[in-house]
Amino acid sequence: MIDHLEIEKAAQLIQKGELVAFPTETVYGLGANALDAYAVAKIFEIKERPSFDPLIAHIASLDMLKLLSDDIDSRVYKLAEAFWPGPLTIVIPRSKNVPDIVCSGLPTVAVRMPDHKVALALIKKANCPIAAPSANKFGKLSPTQAQHVLKNLQGVSMVLDGGPVKVGIESTIIKLDDTGFRILRPGIITAEEIIQVVPLSDEALQEGILAPGMVKSHYSPELRTVLVSSSNDIPHELKRNSAYLPFDDDADSEFKIVIRPAEDLDLRKYATSIFSILHELQESDIDCIYIQTVPKTGIGIAIMDRLEKAAYRHTI
Ligand code: TXA
Ligand code: MG
Repeated sequence: MIDHLEIEKAAQLIQKGELVAFPTETVYGLGANALDAYAVAKIFEIKERPSFDPLIAHIASLDMLKLLSDDIDSRVYKLAEAFWPGPLTIVIPRSKNVPDIVCSGLPTVAVRMPDHKVALALIKKANCPIAAPSANKFGKLSPTQAQHVLKNLQGVSMVLDGGPVKVGIESTIIKLDDTGFRILRPGIITAEEIIQVVPLSDEALQEGILAPGMVKSHYSPELRTVLVSSSNDIPHELKRNSAYLPFDDDADSEFKIVIRPAEDLDLRKYATSIFSILHELQESDIDCIYIQTVPKTGIGIAIMDRLEKAAYRHTI
């Protein structure tokens, strides 16, 4: 468990312009003082992240929100009340306090209040918004445990180990523009839940690249990863040295490894475990990971978004 001395040390590092990896409820983040352009530049360097891909500023209070934006719509407060702290990122106009590098020069900033006591304690102690992408190399699997960060990223001053995360996939991102709110990245908070609070613009979930970082290939495991609708789609000879991740398919003993991400078809549990399973399989001696698709409804939309990117360009 993390004690207050560790939080204190991590907060001092943030204040000095160093990077700290920390747990949130979604995935681990790689954090820097969001108001310090020089510190934020180190994130892009360590992650090998292209500068066109802006970061999320993490806050611990609505006062910090006011620091980041001078123009906060009342609907943003409604969303904050309903979903914060929690896995919802809201893109709003930015104030001049926010350095260009955080927003890749866009007129907007992405903000969220994470639902994790370590993250909130760190932000409060550091006394500044913390800019943090997921703590992985650009385009690779997001970390759901501290050891994923330690293994895959060098040059981080400190990694706060808060154990495995609760949600397992990144936050839902929504943006307010002239036509209303639009979902830029699906997550565990679904369109159905959001419209209980604020209306979404006509096409709630549009196709194509929306958030600048929403490229088609992402979350890529080191191994070939292929989506299938059932294990019957896979030729026998390919099964022997492969892993299979069924959703509702029957057990198939021809595979070397079979892991069911959610025993009871619970998509929330599926989301929590999928990145951890892919991290684990990367270490194993197999040729390919076959994943059975999940229904594209509710949380399934966010899961399929991640799976399609992980499997981009790979077919049987
Ligand atoms: O759950 C999460 O959101 C995690 C944890 C650490 O909070 N963070 C995360 O950050 O997933 P990252 O950097 O991996 O993804 C942030 C996404 C990128 O696709 C980026 O393009 C988009 O947010 N984004 C950031 N600022 C934006 C802006 N001003 N307008 C549109 N999209 C933005
Ligand atoms: Mg990421």
